[in-house]
This record gives sequence, C-alpha cells and structure tokens, in this order.
Amino acid sequence: MIGIFDSGVGGMTVARAVEKLLPDYRITYFGDLARTPYGSKSPATIVEYAIQNTEFLLAQGAKLIIVACNSAASVATETLRQRFTVPLFEVITPAIDKAIIATPSGKIGVIGTVATIKSGVYDREITRRNPQLKVYSQPCPLLVPLVEEGWLDARETKMIVRRYLYPLKQKQVDTLVLGCTHYPLLKELISQRIGKKKVTLIDSSAEVAHSLKAFLETHPEIEQSLAKVGENRYYVSDVTSAAAAIAQMIFGRPIQLIKT
Ligand code: DGL
Repeated sequence: MIGIFDSGVGGMTVARAVEKLLPDYRITYFGDLARTPYGSKSPATIVEYAIQNTEFLLAQGAKLIIVACNSAASVATETLRQRFTVPLFEVITPAIDKAIIATPSGKIGVIGTVATIKSGVYDREITRRNPQLKVYSQPCPLLVPLVEEGWLDARETKMIVRRYLYPLKQKQVDTLVLGCTHYPLLKELISQRIGKKKVTLIDSSAEVAHSLKAFLETHPEIEQSLAKVGENRYYVSDVTSAAAAIAQMIFGRPIQLIKT
C-alpha cells in the first residue's frame, strides 16, 4: 500500500489528491497529531519524528512512502533516503518542477512554515536548476492555527494573509508555491489577495499525486506490489475534534481516525 505521513491532518490534502488520481491503490495515512506542529520545531526533532513515522508506515506494509508534510520534507528527505530503501516521494520536488515551468517572469514566491522557509530548500533547489530565477520566501506561522480553528473565511485571516503576502506582491511574483499542507484550504483567499489573474498558485498536493502516477507507469514492479483491495486507513497519534473536522472538510465526508 501507499504510506503517507504528515505532522497532522493537513497532509490529508495529499492523501485526497492521491485518492482522486489513483483510486485503485490502498492508502495508509499517519498524522502525528500528538506532536504537531512540526513547523516550529528544530530540524533535528523533525528528522527524528520523520524516521519514526516512516518506520510505522513500513510496519503497516507500506511499499512506498509520501512525506506529505513540507516541514518534514524540507529537513528530513535526505536522511530518509539514506536510511530506507523504499521509493520516497515528498511534496517539495514536484512543486518546484511545476513552479519552474509556470513562471513567465522568473519571480517565484514561496510560503510555508518557519521550518520550511528556514531550511532554504525551495530557494536552493530552484536557483540550482536555473540560476536566473528569483525566489522570494515568506514564513506564515499564523496560517496553520487559523486553518485548524476553521477560520478559513474570517476577517482576521484575510488581514493576516494580506500582510504575509504584501512583500511578495511588492516583488511582483507571478507564481506562488503553497509550501505547506494547510494552505490549499486557503487557496481561494490567497489567490484573491495575491492577485487572481496575475499569479499562478502551485499546490503541492496535486503535483505529488501526478508525479506518483508517472512513477507507477514506469515502475511496474512497484506498481504490482501495491495493495488494491481493502480499506484506506487513517491513523493518528492523538484524536482531537478539530482534526476530525478538518479531515471531513478535506475529504468532504467523515473520516474515521484510528488512534495508534
Ligand atoms: N504539515 C506542516 C507543513 O506542511 C504544517 C503543520 C505543522 O507545522 O506541523 O509544513
């Protein structure tokens, strides 16, 4: 089966995108709700958690892992690749690929948690591939709690989004990477605030699902090893009512959260 993990339930945006594009494959999800948020933790702690989450999914029978958390992907990918032999996908590379193609003027904005932006991964990888491109990054630490409160359309959220996006607007970015699991839930609002007609938003959840599909088409040995019968399972290290509400919002149906 496909194993997907995140620091909480935000990564279900990735599970949902995979389910939509690849409905034949079984998914096991793990959301580390007991230790969320990762975005404000140190790289060493995030790496340690990412290793434990991967071990949990492999023990459940995962044949392939998706790191659905930008914060974990930005600091732990290299360690996970060294430590585990299964194919490993993460949400950053496909978003970078798409952003590079999408930008007409070469000015790319990136928003994410403090851990993701501090890691510098987007900046480094985008300019490594094309040194002509300019990357403008903005940490948006208040957005995750606002989404978790369900304040998707609140006046306060609009004000905060406007404030975070202002420096990127000033730089006239034409492409904006939503570098956090929670931001697709604010897509409409972000799009309005940054300039709907002028700026392309890159949603990593959709991009990782497309890159996984392309991979499975060219790797039949992995494709055949993935379970196609049974139920998708959603494990969490703690159950909270806010998490259940977000899960329902993402999938558009109630999701049974199984406590590990
Ligand atoms: N999943 C995290 C990310 O994508 C957001 C929530 C957190 O900080 O743990 O960066």
